[in-house]
Amino acid sequence: MKKQILELRVNGRTYELAIEPNRLLLDALRVDLQLTGSKRGCDDSSCGACTVLVDGTPMLSCTMLAASCEGQEVTTVEGVSEHGALAAIQKAYGDWGGAQCGFCTPGFMMTVKHLLATNPNPSEADVREALSSNLCRCTGYSQMYEAIKAAIEAEQKGMAQSVLSDGTGKR
Ligand code: FES
Ligand code: FES
Repeated sequence: MKKQILELRVNGRTYELAIEPNRLLLDALRVDLQLTGSKRGCDDSSCGACTVLVDGTPMLSCTMLAASCEGQEVTTVEGVSEHGALAAIQKAYGDWGGAQCGFCTPGFMMTVKHLLATNPNPSEADVREALSSNLCRCTGYSQMYEAIKAAIEAEQKGMAQSVLSDGTGKR
């Protein structure tokens, strides 16, 4: 199939790629851009390991054409760290042993990032509902949920602090 030039915006950078029009986003990320954080964990769209954000919405990159993302912002797990520092969810996973083999972790992190962006104070049921499309084959989930709870608390403290430090917060 003839290759086409595609402009893809990923983690705040614009890339020009010569790829087939039927190239999957996951392959464009992992093979063409060498962003190997997103994983292929199944062949039937059931595991969520390939989850990335497209214009802020979690999407399965194994089922999307890269070409369909032109003009949109793609965020992968490599784009989750903030100014070179680990994001709260990354730190909490390390602190709580939320990952064992780690294969599912990037997908979970992208889903949590979206959850916190849209619902800064999620209940346990909200967290479980949001994560229902991501599968983990090794942790048994409890340490992972502890890590996610810790990340939510850290994000909430961070938000409270930034409101205070930008002068709009009142004690
Ligand atoms: S690789 Fe399993 S849902 Fe995409
Ligand atoms: S940590 Fe191994 S699949 Fe989740």
